[in-house]
Amino acid sequence: MSKRLFVVLSLLVVASLILPACASGGKGGGTIKIGLLAPLSGQVPTFGLSNKEGAELAVKEWNEKGGVLGKKIELIIADSQCSPDPAVNAANKLIDQDGVRLIVGETCSSASIPVAEIVNQKKVLQISPTSTNYSVTVDANGVTRPFTFRACFIDPFQGLVMAKFATGKGYKTAFIMFDQGNDYVRGLAEAFEKAFTELGGTVVGKESYTSSDTDFSAILTKVAESNAEVLYLPDYYNIVNLVGAQAKDKGVTAVMMGGDGWDSSDLDVKAADGGFYSNHYDPGDTRPIVQQWLKAYGAAYKDAQGNPKVPDALATLAYDATNLLIAAVEKAGTEDPTKVAEAMAAIKWEAVSGTITFDAQHNPIKSAAVIGVANGKKAFVESVAP
Ligand code: PHE
Repeated sequence: MSKRLFVVLSLLVVASLILPACASGGKGGGTIKIGLLAPLSGQVPTFGLSNKEGAELAVKEWNEKGGVLGKKIELIIADSQCSPDPAVNAANKLIDQDGVRLIVGETCSSASIPVAEIVNQKKVLQISPTSTNYSVTVDANGVTRPFTFRACFIDPFQGLVMAKFATGKGYKTAFIMFDQGNDYVRGLAEAFEKAFTELGGTVVGKESYTSSDTDFSAILTKVAESNAEVLYLPDYYNIVNLVGAQAKDKGVTAVMMGGDGWDSSDLDVKAADGGFYSNHYDPGDTRPIVQQWLKAYGAAYKDAQGNPKVPDALATLAYDATNLLIAAVEKAGTEDPTKVAEAMAAIKWEAVSGTITFDAQHNPIKSAAVIGVANGKKAFVESVAP
């Protein structure tokens, strides 16, 4: 090989090593990376799609205003399936392969809890938009996880909201059905039981099932026999659809109630008819920030008929969490997760789902909305403050 050719080839090799690092925003590069852990596949895909749409819109709006700290924001999405192992793999991929140090996600508590273990070891910042289980931001010793935050209220509050709602309607007896293996469902069932009992109600039956169950007739027979006035079912919409339809077949008369996991465009409003659930926001809220969000989302996303989509709580909280994270980066003046966490802990941010300030456990203090399902529609019933 001639000397000149050798020099040219060597330069090409060096350039090929340096250039991708710049382009992908490595140190000194042009972008700030945000990872999104979204359950795009698995049991609850509407959660993932809503998350993606909310986060993408937030990033687009920041980038149109010039990004943050003079850099464009790059959103890298990983499918985490609302499940512990896929979520851990997706988080490791974002951190170790994509070089992400700031993560929005996961949606589901059972996925966010193991991810919280990892990000706190690796000193990567995590904000979950929607994981409501108490243990997401607090470790097994009760110590606040320094790198984990969330944009939503927590299940002890959400359980209390529905217990108050049920007793307020004069109901005195409840039957609780829950998935033993799902941190969110189990935690919310416990929270409701505690609050309902403290408010003078009686839990007349409690039965567990597993996430792979599809036939609930044995349990529903017990529900019917118990004559409970309320059937509390704090699971995701896919299970609510099955249980609701079978309960109607079995002649169960108890009023079904649940939590934010019911929130989906795929909730079967026939199966859930007559039911109520707690949720994070009400699209009828007249605050300008809510109306502006509805407009922006409807302009960006259309349903199957081509009509503007109305954002659900998942999309709204993903939008809020992403905005909050970027605002904290701006406030910190750096993308260093330790500094961003400090900035976030002290932030006051007006989000679509309410004004966010964090308590010592990195939980925002926010109101809940009670939503009723009737005549094929979901409608706002009342707002409950903490
Ligand atoms: N709160 C649920 C969980 O912790 C996730 C969820 C939030 C689902 C909002 C639907 C709507 O697993």
